[in-house]
Amino acid sequence: MLNIAVLVSGGGTNLQALLDAQARGEIPGGRITLVVASRPDAFALTRAEKVGVPTAVLRRKSFESQAQYDEALLSILRENEIGLVVLAGFMTIISPTVIHAYENRILNIHPSLIPSFCGEGFYGLHVHEAALARGVKVTGATVHFVNEICDGGPIVLQKAVEIQPGDTPEVLQRRVMEQAEWKLLPKAVALFCAGRLQVKDGRVEILPAPDQKEEP
Ligand code: GAR
Repeated sequence: MLNIAVLVSGGGTNLQALLDAQARGEIPGGRITLVVASRPDAFALTRAEKVGVPTAVLRRKSFESQAQYDEALLSILRENEIGLVVLAGFMTIISPTVIHAYENRILNIHPSLIPSFCGEGFYGLHVHEAALARGVKVTGATVHFVNEICDGGPIVLQKAVEIQPGDTPEVLQRRVMEQAEWKLLPKAVALFCAGRLQVKDGRVEILPAPDQKEEP
């Protein structure tokens, strides 16, 4: 059983989707054992506390240097024997030190079809504002492994979502969450925990499910 840490900054609806999937038995290989928030007022913390998942708050600005922040984050991950880190709306940049320590073991959800509307400055509602401003007809969400390039790591899963006439950024954000994010993230986490994600040459191969049937 793999210990999973979910890193959050805001409302935590993606964390909720993971907790709900876990409660339905859809993540058999792992268990969410830690939620780390980048701010003390993140509602995601309340969601975790409600189901008895231990929480921690780590604010980048409480640390004098990046190295000290990295050390604190890595210590808490190691103390909790975390095998998978999930960024679910986490708004603090993860440094190369942490990325290397958890190479191909950090997943992120991004609210667009990467490589569109991603990279620096593209987060939260801004992503949907940019998609509407460009007039694309289809957007979506992407789960990817985190590497040193912002939103540039190997892609695990993507799902398209149609833009409707009259969409506002808020309406589109909600549709992308409902139709894509809340389904994709638990699915990607379950695949990781089942050992079915293989990264090769910057691309992710999804391995077939092992045959459950016994040989006669
Ligand atoms: C989600 O839409 C997530 O994809 C996005 O922030 C939102 C968090 O919502 N993440 C990014 O933009 C990362 N670049 P939540 O707190 O309700 O899960």
